[in-house]
Amino acid sequence: MIENYLNSTFGLTGRTALVTGAARGIGLAIATALGRAGASVVINDLSEKSCAQSVDFLKIEGISASSICFDVSDPVAVKNAKTQLELQGVGIDILVNNAGNQNRKALVDMTHAEWQKIMNVHVNGAFNCTHTFLPDMVAQGFGRIVMMSSVSGQATMPLIAAYSTAKAATASMARSIAVEYASHGITANAIAPGFVKTDFTVGLQQREGFDTYLQNNVPSGRWALPEDIAPVVLFLVSSGGSFVNGQVLAIDGGLLARMG
Ligand SMILES: NC(=O)c1ccc[n+]([C@@H]2O[C@H](COP(=O)([O-])OP(=O)(O)OC[C@H]3O[C@@H](n4cnc5c(N)ncnc54)[C@H](O)[C@@H]3O)[C@@H](O)[C@H]2O)c1
Repeated sequence: MIENYLNSTFGLTGRTALVTGAARGIGLAIATALGRAGASVVINDLSEKSCAQSVDFLKIEGISASSICFDVSDPVAVKNAKTQLELQGVGIDILVNNAGNQNRKALVDMTHAEWQKIMNVHVNGAFNCTHTFLPDMVAQGFGRIVMMSSVSGQATMPLIAAYSTAKAATASMARSIAVEYASHGITANAIAPGFVKTDFTVGLQQREGFDTYLQNNVPSGRWALPEDIAPVVLFLVSSGGSFVNGQVLAIDGGLLARMG
């Protein structure tokens, strides 16, 4: 009985999920979680080789996986990817806009090109993929979109102004999609992870005193792992999460809730 309940509430059999920036880190953990729940997963990232390695990793687990390599910030490449998927008979039911980049610099030291590069990946990338894959979701009356925001979209620290601005924008985009498309069977939510131990945060992991900062300021007292983030995405895209729409869900060990 429990298994039936879990399958009908959280199972994704028959669904296909595209996860951007999924060759490693949080994206790969999300693809793994969705695949373990029965979805077919399509891995996107910048390098064919790293995509292929991740697909092999998922297939060893028995997950139905394939990859499509493109730069999310290139609208033409995203449209071409959709055409390629269509030719393979693959339609996307679940889109996780996870791809992201970083550039730690004081605001006035950033060149316009550096600022734009952050916006291009996080904000324009999420727009390009949503713009491309949402119409088919609307046509079929079902779709799930998850935006990767961050605690940095709500509170911030020095040297990440562009990133924080972009992460606030992706949260706002999730709300906008939810409000515009809920009546077509679409949900769009954002997740806001705290500090997650991935290649993305190697600089922080090596910074003296940062672990102590986390112990003192994150109520849970530790780094998040990609495996802390992925099940929350599974919940949001499952039928169990179907009435959660337009939300920004912090997965931060209590960091944003803390006052002192
Ligand atoms: N690690 C953290 O602490 C943390 C916290 C909050 C939010 N996030 C967000 O989570 C997401 C994943 O982060 P991560 O920690 O796994 O980082 P990561 O660097 O390990 O993974 C990011 C992936 O995105 C890919 N990518 C970058 N630009 C791309 C593009 N233009 N097109 C396609 N793929 C591209 C990279 O190649 C990489 O594989 C990012 O959006 C990041 O901002 C991370």
